Amino acid sequence: MSLFDKSRAFHAQVAELRSRNRFFYLRQLDPPAAPVARLHGRRMLNLGSNNYLGLTTHPKVVEAAIQAIRDYGTGACSSRILAGTGALHNRLERRLAEFKGTEDAIVFTTGFMTMMGTVAAIAGEGDIIFSDELNHASIVEGCRLSRAAKRIYRHNDMADLEEQLAGCDVEANKLIVTDGVFSMRGAVANLPGIKRLADRYNAKTMVDDAHGTGVLGATGRGTPEHYHMEGQIDLICGTFSKSLATVGGFTGAKAEVVEFLRLNSRPFVFTASPPPSVVATVLACLDVIEGEPDLLRKLHDNATFLKKGLKDLGFSLEDTITPIIPVRIGDAEKTFRMAGELQGRGGDRESDRPPCRLERGYADAHQRDGHVLHGGAGRGPRQVPDRWQAPRHDLAEADGHEDVSRDRELLLVQ
Ligand SMILES: Cc1ncc(COP(=O)(O)O)c(C=O)c1O
Repeated sequence: MSLFDKSRAFHAQVAELRSRNRFFYLRQLDPPAAPVARLHGRRMLNLGSNNYLGLTTHPKVVEAAIQAIRDYGTGACSSRILAGTGALHNRLERRLAEFKGTEDAIVFTTGFMTMMGTVAAIAGEGDIIFSDELNHASIVEGCRLSRAAKRIYRHNDMADLEEQLAGCDVEANKLIVTDGVFSMRGAVANLPGIKRLADRYNAKTMVDDAHGTGVLGATGRGTPEHYHMEGQIDLICGTFSKSLATVGGFTGAKAEVVEFLRLNSRPFVFTASPPPSVVATVLACLDVIEGEPDLLRKLHDNATFLKKGLKDLGFSLEDTITPIIPVRIGDAEKTFRMAGELQGRGGDRESDRPPCRLERGYADAHQRDGHVLHGGAGRGPRQVPDRWQAPRHDLAEADGHEDVSRDRELLLVQ
């Protein structure tokens, strides 16, 4: 079998799904982050974007990005450690540290690189990483790259985490890593429980707050703020690709840890630094989040409104306090049919891999005019053939993380 034979077999599977209108990846949505976007020429409600606060089109944010291009050009064209660090980068790192209540912060070029590059630089051979089974793929990759021993604990299960911590060498360096808000289920990590165990078993903590930043806490500072635990997490990370309306990520920590990351994290050292417009976008978003608290209120009002409406319609929802709303359908074929019908009616939805659940992560600029509930949601079903597992799942499983694509009881609309 040649290297490319698998692509041919895969292509046949995808073509078969396409022919049955069962393939929903990589569809062109114009524009992708808008509350109402065009799909196949039709106007569709988009409740699947992570543009939680709708800041991609906020006038102050747009103006800041344009001004940065005027002032600094379109790209930094070098690694941060060589010629790619400008005043804006340094300003953003200080600003993020302030926002998250850490001594310092480091900005990475993508969120994925942030998690992967932080875990892999901090933990190494001989160390032990304790990772929630539903953690994001970027953490899974970080665990693999680090060469540390891995202990995967059951989702948000503190008893299992404690059992695993208790069973390990007391002398070993330990890192407990978790999503703040789980991107697939919308659940919030039990940070108080994790912190208690970390203190008891002398472990460090890392939280990927991609979906908590700008969403949770009284002022949108994220999951630690939600629990009144600001400053208590050793490594607090996030992405810019959700509430912060662009692309990139950050890790906040003690100054000496951040300095270590700047010079040792390969995804930071060996890649080009974020363009000035990206950095200016995030700076402006942070100002807007602080200056316009109504946006956060509106996000949660919309989420509450949608949850209530869905429940009133008889849907079974997973209980979340976040704007990620998994709708339990329980039957794969039915899920697809629903997804297809929603699309036919001008709603857009996303069923996640072998269709199990419909999750709605929406927010932002949606006006609550009633059409939300009638129109559906999401980026569109991400169906893949039963036989085929996306690489991320293979890898996740190989490491003992859960393959969420196997969950056949839920339909995910995000
Ligand atoms: C929990 C979580 N962590 C990390 C990432 C990766 O971030 P990015 O897409 O900004 O690279 C994502 C994005 O999908 C995510 O949901």
